[in-house]
Amino acid sequence: MARKKMMRFEENLERYNVLQMEDEAYTKLKGNWNKTHFPSSQPIVLELACGYGEYSVGLGKVYPNKNFVGVDVKGDRLWRGSTDALANNSFNVAFLRAEIQKLDQFFEQDEVSEIWVIHPDPRPRKRDRKRRLTNSRFLDMYKKILNKGGTVHIKTDDDPLYDYTLEEIAKYKIKNLLLTRDLHNSPLYPEHHGILTRYEKRAQKQGLKINYLRFEFDD
Ligand SMILES: C[S@@+](CC[C@H](N)C(=O)[O-])C[C@H]1O[C@@H](n2cnc3c(N)ncnc32)[C@H](O)[C@@H]1O
Repeated sequence: MARKKMMRFEENLERYNVLQMEDEAYTKLKGNWNKTHFPSSQPIVLELACGYGEYSVGLGKVYPNKNFVGVDVKGDRLWRGSTDALANNSFNVAFLRAEIQKLDQFFEQDEVSEIWVIHPDPRPRKRDRKRRLTNSRFLDMYKKILNKGGTVHIKTDDDPLYDYTLEEIAKYKIKNLLLTRDLHNSPLYPEHHGILTRYEKRAQKQGLKINYLRFEFDD
């Protein structure tokens, strides 16, 4: 393993804002984020497939009255987000190293107020559709951990994944759906506070438009 990556993994072990398997608290987080991890009990917002955690860090600054958890499996990417949050003294931002399919092992029913899924892997092969983060298997889990009125935000530059996501959410009773196939030229864009992720910058350079939608489950 590259030396830089190893050093980042070691630093993650020492950091209070990175929660991973080696931490004693790791298996006790469910239902306890606001009791034992965050200094203030506030609405919890998740950034899934967070990569370098740009949304957790960026929104964490804009909304100090909310707590943010970026979730990804890649420790070296989480290290970047963790470093930025520490530099900002953002005690309301944390990173969880975990597989998103196990999200309900880390969050209790109704514990979460908002979920952002930011440029998830498109998984274009048909046989991988159950691994897409907007497959109903994942949506069921988001529904379970979200509180009443909780919002799901999904952002992707991948048109087939966006179309697939629209088909999947059509299986649910939802409300307050807002959507655009060109976020950067949409009235919804200011709500993103100019936050651009690595993948989004790359998509922009390629001239791709960014799809975005948000909704609430209605039962
Ligand atoms: C295409 S990248 C997007 C990263 C970031 N959101 C961005 O826009 O730059 C997808 C990310 O999802 C993470 N990921 C994919 N499947 C995952 C899973 N099942 N559980 C946790 N993380 C996952 C990958 O490690 C990767 O960092």
